[in-house]
Amino acid sequence: MRVLLLTGKGGVGKTSMALATALGAAAHGHRTIVLSTDPAHSLGDALGHPVGAAPVEIAPNLMAQEIGVLAELDRAWSDVQEWLRALLRDDADDLMAEELLVFPGMEELVSLRAVREVEATEAYDVCVVDCAPTGATLRMLRFPDALRIFMENFFDLERRGARLLRPLLNRVSSGLIPKEEFFEAFERLYREVEDVRQILMDGDRTSARLVVNPARVVVEEARRSFAYLSLYGVATDAVVVNRELPDGARGGFFERWAERERREQADIEASFPIPILHAPLHRQEVRGLEALRELARQVYGDTDPAGVFTRSRPVRLHKEGGVPVLEIDLPNTSKEDIDLSTLGDELVIRVRDARRLVALPASLAGRTVAGTRFENGVLRIRFQ
Ligand SMILES: Nc1ncnc2c1ncn2[C@@H]1O[C@H](COP(=O)(O)OP(=O)(O)OP(=O)(O)O)[C@@H](O)[C@H]1O
Ligand SMILES: [Mg+2]
Repeated sequence: MRVLLLTGKGGVGKTSMALATALGAAAHGHRTIVLSTDPAHSLGDALGHPVGAAPVEIAPNLMAQEIGVLAELDRAWSDVQEWLRALLRDDADDLMAEELLVFPGMEELVSLRAVREVEATEAYDVCVVDCAPTGATLRMLRFPDALRIFMENFFDLERRGARLLRPLLNRVSSGLIPKEEFFEAFERLYREVEDVRQILMDGDRTSARLVVNPARVVVEEARRSFAYLSLYGVATDAVVVNRELPDGARGGFFERWAERERREQADIEASFPIPILHAPLHRQEVRGLEALRELARQVYGDTDPAGVFTRSRPVRLHKEGGVPVLEIDLPNTSKEDIDLSTLGDELVIRVRDARRLVALPASLAGRTVAGTRFENGVLRIRFQ
């Protein structure tokens, strides 16, 4: 199943573009579903009729579903959350605690599980995700790492008898011992999230598409998001520039806007070395199937939106003269923005305010970093 994540800053046109993309994919014969993981659902608004928590058919080959966070929230998990909150209350000062505090991100968790559930039905070839604005999408992508760190440090998955590790044992006296169901909920969750991680980090299956408008703040944010997506191992295969002034509207009152737009276009070309797709500003809101299909034609023409527009593996490990080298694409990033450290067998990579904990493969665990280099937007970490 192909997974397309339509993401971008608030209001740029993610929902419209997700629907247009899904309609295009369905028209090419793919069994398609469009999911909204934004808590402020708006698939229904854009379609002009309601979409609910259960999949509904909105066009031939096309289903739509708005994932309801509350509907998905199971009892076991809310217990776990409460327990975690209590646990983290006093010492939230170190990096580990910081990671764990990502936990209460319920929406992100629900979105991740939804993708997995859609895949498990085997009923679809394409799953288009109308993501929440970029910040939440990045939190979603960071979640599996946070969960993994938690599992590895607090639970011993292999030796079920001794699943509580030291940090927790210290709390036994304070009565914060979790019940058996907690462990089960956790283990289940962990495996589910791991499954989704495999899907999202596989560039043949998953592509992010960054929706932008030709406006300064939007492009700036997209430049950063492009690097963060890459840091989390998600390949972005296209940028969609939405709401461009149409030819007929570039003069008169809009002359200055058109001029500014040209500058932004040049910046977009320079910042994103991937296919750039375009959609004009419509005369009115893009609402209803007809307008959305028109948008799909403008963006994709005859091209199948389900295709992989450019192949990349943002995070890769290879050998150079027998020495293992980890490479991470960090476009639009400068050396000063990057900070590297280790935490046990994890490599902690910070890029401005985003952070990724990369679990080193068994072959690298215990090896020390011999050197790092950042050149042409690629971070290279050589191991001993
Ligand atoms: N090319 C376009 N021309 C005219 N209007 C557009 C275009 N693209 C989107 N819109 C309109 O802009 C508004 C915002 O679009 P949309 O809801 O798709 O953005 P969004 O990124 O999903 O927003 P949010 O971050 O709030 O979820 C909607 O009213 C939509 O109809
Ligand atoms: Mg939206």
